[in-house]
Formats: sequence, structure tokens, C-alpha cells
Amino acid sequence: MDKQSDLRKYREDFPLLAEWDLAYLDNAATTQKPRQVLEAVRRYYEAENANPLRGVYELSAVATQVYEDARALTAEFIHAAQPEEIVFTRNATESLNLVAYSWGGANLHPGDRVLVSVLEHHSNFLPWKAVAERTGAEIVQIPCTPEGEITEELLRSVLTPQTKLVAVTQVSNVMGRKNDLKKLAKVAHEAGALLMADGAQSVPHMAVDVQDLGVDFLAFSGHKMLAPMGIGALYGRKELLDAMPPFLTGGEMIEIVHWDRVKYAQVPHKFEAGTVNAGGAAGLAAAIRYLQEIGFDRIEAQEQRLTCLAMEGLKQIPGIRIIGSARPEDHMGIVTFMVEDVHPHDVASILDRDGIAIRAGHHCAQPLMDYLGVNSTCRASFAFYNTEEEVEKFLASVGKIRGLMGYGG
Ligand code: ALA
Repeated sequence: MDKQSDLRKYREDFPLLAEWDLAYLDNAATTQKPRQVLEAVRRYYEAENANPLRGVYELSAVATQVYEDARALTAEFIHAAQPEEIVFTRNATESLNLVAYSWGGANLHPGDRVLVSVLEHHSNFLPWKAVAERTGAEIVQIPCTPEGEITEELLRSVLTPQTKLVAVTQVSNVMGRKNDLKKLAKVAHEAGALLMADGAQSVPHMAVDVQDLGVDFLAFSGHKMLAPMGIGALYGRKELLDAMPPFLTGGEMIEIVHWDRVKYAQVPHKFEAGTVNAGGAAGLAAAIRYLQEIGFDRIEAQEQRLTCLAMEGLKQIPGIRIIGSARPEDHMGIVTFMVEDVHPHDVASILDRDGIAIRAGHHCAQPLMDYLGVNSTCRASFAFYNTEEEVEKFLASVGKIRGLMGYGG
């Protein structure tokens, strides 16, 4: 069996892909869910549900076990040193806000600098902007290369002894380019700064080892990696998390509360106020097991094959501009493009009529749009369950757009 037909069998696990006659090419926004994940969530609510971490009865212990097993698997998945370094959150956005408010609020002072790459999604920019306004720290932009990479040199060009933290994505949700976080973390650390990585577009598509990379924090979302919406994670080095104040306060995150005296729980529970999303965690664990069964070598190879096909095809169509590197290997399954004279929303609407879903707009990265000198763009983003036929369908539809809009060619 060749690699393509081998992966095709996994497509059958996705009920939505059978339900809709649609080439779903918006995987960077959210992925579809295999029945193994849906079944894990259903099993949790049918057979394992109680309020975790609270009850002294057996069912609550079962729910707690499901939740903590998911944490242990998530830690192993990204090679964290211990499960306590994984805080479950709603999504990458909440993880990034947690670090900005908690660590940033406690550690940033007037005159300090936070370097934020121009590539960042609003969720790794706005929390830093907000905390900088509160603390008097300064936000400084790290520029990127025309290919969409944050290089060591570009980081060094804005790094000063006042820098306390560097916020950078591992893979840009617009350019698709992978940053060498290991090198960037080393440069940041040499200057005495921490590195906060956004892994929302990398963790679902490639093997990530936080210890090897040397990052201090990494945020990611479950829903972009086959899991349900509403569950995400923050990785943080234990000693950093230990020293940070809580982000949200309330139930579950305390050891003792008296009117005049409070002792917070140990990490990670200190950061998980309120009833947790154990059903979501069960779904995330099933998603991780599913990704592990396929293997990132095969996932990356298929996504690269589709990216290559899409980019080579787009290059043959007159009036198409591809954003970022011209080399498919520089795009982690993300191809952002523009059709000359046609608004991206019109492009996406025409594709939708042809049964193809892509994203059009600023992709929650408006500072990057400003940097690129555009208002909005079109983006096709692939998952391993997409097929060559879907890419051909996409190319055929894109190929007729300028003609349809009266521009010829
Ligand atoms: N952050 C998601 C995207 O880039 C929603 O589409």
C-alpha cells in the first residue's frame, strides 16, 4: 500500500467529511474530528462523568483519573518534563493570556521590553499590549524576512538588556513558515529573556519537544488538532509556573481559604479555576493517540505533498500572488494567496459555491497584514485527511475566478 492510500483510510474516520460534499481546506482555523475523539467524549459523559478533583466517591475518582491521564499524555506528547507543566485551558488564546496576565503582571515594570514578532496572531500580541499598558513596559516588534521567518539576526536586531520576554510563533498562521525556536530561545536566554511560543499551528502538524527547543512557555489549542473546541493547553517550565500568581481565582484552585488568609493549590491546579473541561480533555487525549498512531512523519509528508501540488498549480494561474516563500517546503500546510483585482471574500465565496472551504480575511493578524501592505488575503490550509483530488478541485475553481469577474485570464 502506498502512503497516499494508507492515509486515505483515516479519512473514513471523519463523519463530517462524509456528510458534506466539501473540500475542507480551512484546517488552520479548526480541524474536523475523527469518531475516535467523538467516542471518547461520549464515553466520558456516558460512563465517567462527575466533577473531577472534588468528590470522595468512586465516580469522581474515575473522572479525575481521565482528566489527569489526559494531562500526562499531553505532557508526554510535547515532551514536557512532568505532567504538572501542563495547564489545561480553553485554547491557545487563554494560555497566552494566562502568561501575559500572570507572569507579565508580576514581572514587567516600566522600562522593560517585550519583543513580539510581527507574525503573531492577535492572541500573542494583544495580551502583551494590554499588560504593557498596565505595567509601563514597552512592546517592540521583531520584523520577519520576506519569507515570513524570524531569524536569529532579526531577533538580535531588537534585543536589548531590557528585554524580559520574546513572544514568537512556531509556525505563522498566514505565512506557514516554521521558525527555529531552538535558536531563538538560545538567543533570548543569552540576553536574560524568556521565550513564549505560540504552538497553535505547529503542535497539530509536527513533532514538538519543548525540552529540546528550550522554550519557557508554549500554548496550543485542541480544536486545531482533531480535539473538541474548548480545550487547550499551556506548557510552562515548572519553576516559572510555581512562581507565578493565579490568573483566575475561585473553586478548585485553592488549598485553604479563610476570610483573611488564602493558600493556593500547587501547579497546575492553581491555574485551573472552576470546574474543568474533563470531557474535552478526554477528547484531546483521544486526538493525541490518533495522531500518534498515524505518526508525524506520514502527516507531514502528506501535508507537504498537498502544499506542493497547490503551490505549483497556483503558480500556473495568471494573476495569483503567493504570500511568503515561493518554496512549498517553507509552508507547513498553509498557502496564503491573492487573486489580482478580486477581493479575498469574493474569492472565498466563489470557491464555496464550488464546494471548497478556505479562509479569507486578515486571519487575526492585522499587524502582519500592515507589514505586508495588504488588507486581507485568501488562505488554504491542509490536514493529512485532505486529498490530491481536493487540491485539483481547488485549483480548477481558483483558475476561473478572474475570468468570472470579467478580468480575462
Ligand atoms: N487562528 C485561527 C486561524 O488562523 C482561527 O484561522
